[in-house]
Amino acid sequence: MSAGGGGSDPANPATVAVIAGDGIGAEVIPAARRVLDAVGEFEFVAGEAGDAVREETGSALPEETYELAASADATLFGAAGETAADVILPLREAVGSFVNVRPARAFPGVDALRPETDLVFLRENTEGVYAGHEDRLSDDLSTLTRVVTDSASRRLAEFACEYVEGRDTDTLQVVHKANVMRETDGRFRDAVVDAAGEAGVDTEEVLMDAFATRVCLEPERFDTVVCPNLAGDVLSDLAAGLVGGLGLLPSANVGPDRALFEPVHGTAPDIAGEGVANPAAAMLSAAMLVEYLDDEAAGADVRAAVEATLSDGPRTPDLGGEATTDEVTDAVLARL
Ligand code: NAI
Ligand code: MG
Repeated sequence: MSAGGGGSDPANPATVAVIAGDGIGAEVIPAARRVLDAVGEFEFVAGEAGDAVREETGSALPEETYELAASADATLFGAAGETAADVILPLREAVGSFVNVRPARAFPGVDALRPETDLVFLRENTEGVYAGHEDRLSDDLSTLTRVVTDSASRRLAEFACEYVEGRDTDTLQVVHKANVMRETDGRFRDAVVDAAGEAGVDTEEVLMDAFATRVCLEPERFDTVVCPNLAGDVLSDLAAGLVGGLGLLPSANVGPDRALFEPVHGTAPDIAGEGVANPAAAMLSAAMLVEYLDDEAAGADVRAAVEATLSDGPRTPDLGGEATTDEVTDAVLARL
């Protein structure tokens, strides 16, 4: 999952678009940026998006912000409020993202329902029921057209086959419901299983509903999970519940030439402005960003510093602590 932007080469720094957005986005993204500053040389370009920008300008995602994401080597995004769909869907498109990478892992020292959980979702990011083909046909009837292509499914599978090389498994777990949606999920399943077979990677099929139960009962059974768009969205949030909450989960939206990194959480209006948001998810997203820019060592350093701080403190109130975002950030920087 790398681009070769040369994140830590001072002579040729990678461009990183930074779009903090609304609510706690404006608190955790500056924290993550401090971490990036500590581990590499980057050319930062700042862009605006979200509810506040829509109020000022009429548009939640100004053209110049879209262009920043479409031209930067990587983008770090926080969160947008009510306008989330108007911001994040076009931003994913701006980077040409075809896969959403969502690791869900419990951390030592952090309360989790299922501390054994350590899996990653590789979610199709362009089609399925999120393709936007909904119609109101009458006062009584609305319909949705689900889009599944061989090409998008194979592209996801090819990415997954490369990705699995860095994991503790050599099997892709393919989640689908092809027993009911024979045409669409059938096509998805066949394309993923065939592409994996051609790449010499084993697959195990798991029906989507059974997966939801089994991941709660025996999360250690799952490692690298390939799924259609809606299933990946729902099941990865379910897994977030198993590992201790939304303040911990990073994600990457990867395209052929660039990528966008974002915490899974939203703007957290209940705590926004108080300076107590947990910056871990944003910092772990920044770790994925530097790894994507080919600096594996810096990514590992950030991850280690965040994990040590989660385990030994200080911690923000969502994890039972009393520390502010700034205090946690200082502690992570001190460990770097
Ligand atoms: P949320 O993720 O903002 O908050 C859910 C709960 O988790 C809240 O109690 C919040 O305080 C807590 N939480 C989330 N992140 C945290 C952090 N870093 N530290 C400590 N606690 C944290 O989800 P919610 O409440 O459903 O949505 C709020 C707004 O965010 C909505 O307007 C929604 O549209 C937007 N949203 C935006 C997303 C995006 O921009 N990608 C994703 C999800 C929601
Ligand atoms: Mg979601």
